[in-house]
Amino acid sequence: MKNITISKKFEFSASHRYWRDEWCEEENRRYFGNSTGPYGHGHNYELHVTVLGNIDPKTGMIINLTELKKYVNDVLESFDHKFLNLDTPYFKDKQPTTENLALVLFDLIAKKLKTLQGIALYKLRLYEKRDLYVDVWQDKS
Ligand code: NI
Repeated sequence: MKNITISKKFEFSASHRYWRDEWCEEENRRYFGNSTGPYGHGHNYELHVTVLGNIDPKTGMIINLTELKKYVNDVLESFDHKFLNLDTPYFKDKQPTTENLALVLFDLIAKKLKTLQGIALYKLRLYEKRDLYVDVWQDKS
């Protein structure tokens, strides 16, 4: 059986700070380096959203791209130009790393796409920088 996916790239900007209250400043610096600065720092994130589905014979497409854009942008709106630590509710008890951010985005986008029949979020790739990215995907359960 062949599988087919389609991927679309999105962009957003956000800032973050890595810090553990339980650790002293020196320990924080040792693990997180310059990312401990009290005012945070920003990234231009790039998100690649990959959707798995069947080709609709009427349109020749897996997903209506207008719908995909709308669903993903609805999610990204609450992250764009935000300080991830305080302006979003997701990082109260975990670091706003690219790994954790990718997991949060995966769950939020997967939930939105569930309303579309025959479509599943297959994979997210989140770039923090050009040379650093995280992949999240779900095994078939
Ligand atoms: Ni950073």
